[in-house]
Amino acid sequence: MKKITIIGAGRVGETTAQILAEEELCREIALFDVREDVPEGVALDILQTAPFFKFDCALEGSNDPRILRGSELVIVTAGFPRQPGMSRADVLESNVRIVDDVTDHIMAYAPDAMVLVVSNPVDTLTYRVAQRTGWGRGRVFGQAGVLDASRMASFIAQETGFSSRDITTIVMGGHGDTMVPVTRFCTINGIPIAHFLSEDRIEAIVERTRKGGAEILALRKNSSAYDAPGAAVAAMVDAIVNHRRRLLPCVALLEGEYGETDIAMGVPCILGEKGIESIVELDLNPRERADFLRSAASVRAEIERLGELDGARSAARKS
Ligand code: LAC
Repeated sequence: MKKITIIGAGRVGETTAQILAEEELCREIALFDVREDVPEGVALDILQTAPFFKFDCALEGSNDPRILRGSELVIVTAGFPRQPGMSRADVLESNVRIVDDVTDHIMAYAPDAMVLVVSNPVDTLTYRVAQRTGWGRGRVFGQAGVLDASRMASFIAQETGFSSRDITTIVMGGHGDTMVPVTRFCTINGIPIAHFLSEDRIEAIVERTRKGGAEILALRKNSSAYDAPGAAVAAMVDAIVNHRRRLLPCVALLEGEYGETDIAMGVPCILGEKGIESIVELDLNPRERADFLRSAASVRAEIERLGELDGARSAARKS
């Protein structure tokens, strides 16, 4: 891939840019941010790691949205991070405005790009970008499940003492407290985790995974997680640019899959060169199905808030 633009030169944007550069996943990385001088500073700092990591990827930053020109992929990380005690939904009102502006820039300057949404609340904002652009779900999708699954895999590795490289996990649903780690499909080199861990320990890992972002926010205090989120985004980019057709949980627009429509949330997808190629429909058991529905209901409630926020915005404009 020639050019990738990252919107938002905050911690997630910066970490993502560093990994994309180190792994030479494209020739050119652009960083866009509305904060004066910041994207230029971040780009320059990363560029100066090139002699250590031996990459030839070019980096530049700007406050001018024209920097988006020529991007094949745009990664949206802009927005206010939540503060300790806040839920991801609490940042919806401020972040939807930011993401709307960003979407308009993408449509104006990178009309052929794929869009990978990372800003929170990610399910609802992915839905918003898909609505506003009208682009198909293959091209507009979000990152959440790759991160949640990596958190879960790390917890299983800690608990068993086994290598995390042998651990496969899958987390579906919305990126919030109702997310659905599907333990039945979590394995250690193909062997179900139930062979190694008691039901209680698995339940504890599920709960810790659901609150994985909040745990880090509470510990870091002045920041949400960004190391693992950046790595998760880079893993998705790698699947796209190398056309790997990986099976990864992505935030995708559902068109009848899992009985849902008019919603974006985490489901297993095949991710390759053109973005989401297809959605994999798993045969969920009654409990998993109930958990998925509960998660869909919470995402849907947030999507409905979008309508209320739009109504309040247009009323404010008229008065
Ligand atoms: C997390 C935030 C970034 O899960 O959503 O850490």
